[in-house]
Amino acid sequence: MKILSVVGARPQFVKLAPIAKAMEGAAEHVIVHTGQHYDELMSDVFFRDLGIPAPDVNLGVGSGKHGAQTGTMLAGLEEVLEAQRPDCVLVYGDTNSTLAAALAAVKIHVPVAHLEAGLRSFNRRMPEEHNRVLTDHAADLLLAPTQVAVDHLATEGLADRTVLVGDVMTDVLHAVRDRLTAAEPALPEGLTAGGYYVSTIHRPDNTDDPERLGAIVSSLAALDRPVLLLAHPRLADLAQRHGIALEQGAIRVSAPLAYPQLVDAARNAAGVVTDSGGLQKEAFLLRVPCTTIRPETEWVETVDLGWNVLVSEDLSTLTATVQRPAPAPTDATPYGDGHAAERTVAALEDAFAPVSR
Ligand code: UD1
Repeated sequence: MKILSVVGARPQFVKLAPIAKAMEGAAEHVIVHTGQHYDELMSDVFFRDLGIPAPDVNLGVGSGKHGAQTGTMLAGLEEVLEAQRPDCVLVYGDTNSTLAAALAAVKIHVPVAHLEAGLRSFNRRMPEEHNRVLTDHAADLLLAPTQVAVDHLATEGLADRTVLVGDVMTDVLHAVRDRLTAAEPALPEGLTAGGYYVSTIHRPDNTDDPERLGAIVSSLAALDRPVLLLAHPRLADLAQRHGIALEQGAIRVSAPLAYPQLVDAARNAAGVVTDSGGLQKEAFLLRVPCTTIRPETEWVETVDLGWNVLVSEDLSTLTATVQRPAPAPTDATPYGDGHAAERTVAALEDAFAPVSR
């Protein structure tokens, strides 16, 4: 069986890590990087730290408007798929790279499997929501991370293509956390375990409007502990253009962290403040209270279990929400048992292994 994975953005490299490992000996695995993320800290460090084989192809597409970026990927991927002719294209999550790969494959009749299928924010302003809905409806096999995702797919008439495999980010997080447990935490200078917050802000809805970004930054600056603000290039760029100083009050600005360092920083934090999908879930898995600056989340289990609180319209509550006490402990495992990648490869074999084998 020949599987071709398409990735392009930071969270996809994390998801690829356990899949690439589970593919070893089970399938021929070709890795294609669209080049959506290209900075050393946004791309290369993930391949290196997570032991992912170097991509077989890198399209080097880079940044751009949605249409131009997605279209350039689509054209490049069509060539790659025609040359490679895999049994299946595996796409990850909800970025422009995901949608481009799904479209490129269905148009030339290559089967598509979507990992992290069925997540919904029901917020049509988010590019990720279009990407994931369109990808789910184009795909032949829907690999769902949670029961809630399975239910969304059933509501959209896609139950017969759906398999519940669990969440591959749980697989990676468990592996990295266990490696770190043995090691001394190497926190950034001056921060002590439990004595700071970790924050990431990168979504256009939070960064593009100067007034909103200014209010978020002021709330973080007013927190009662230092805030390690891991600045995505979009945040750094827009803050500068809006004339907003990120380094103010409690805030300490840092470049984005490599994955093991991110897990280490999050697990030792008093709380996480973010608009990232992945980090909300990582905070839950590490049992660190999270505050999410968005009106809704795809990872509703984190909210239902009390570990994640959404703040969006009324930013005046942000500081107090971040400083709230930790919720009651839970041993719930809505994101699976850390073996989602193995289940994914088994599901791909069931669906796409050539009949002669
Ligand atoms: C993308 C995904 C988002 C995901 C996020 C993770 C889409 C629509 N969005 O958002 O779902 O949560 O990745 O980070 O696909 N830039 C750099 N260096 C890089 C990459 C980006 O400087 O290596 C800058 C560029 O100015 C670029 C901007 O960041 O225009 C945004 O990058 P882009 O890949 O378009 O979207 P993200 O915000 O990263």
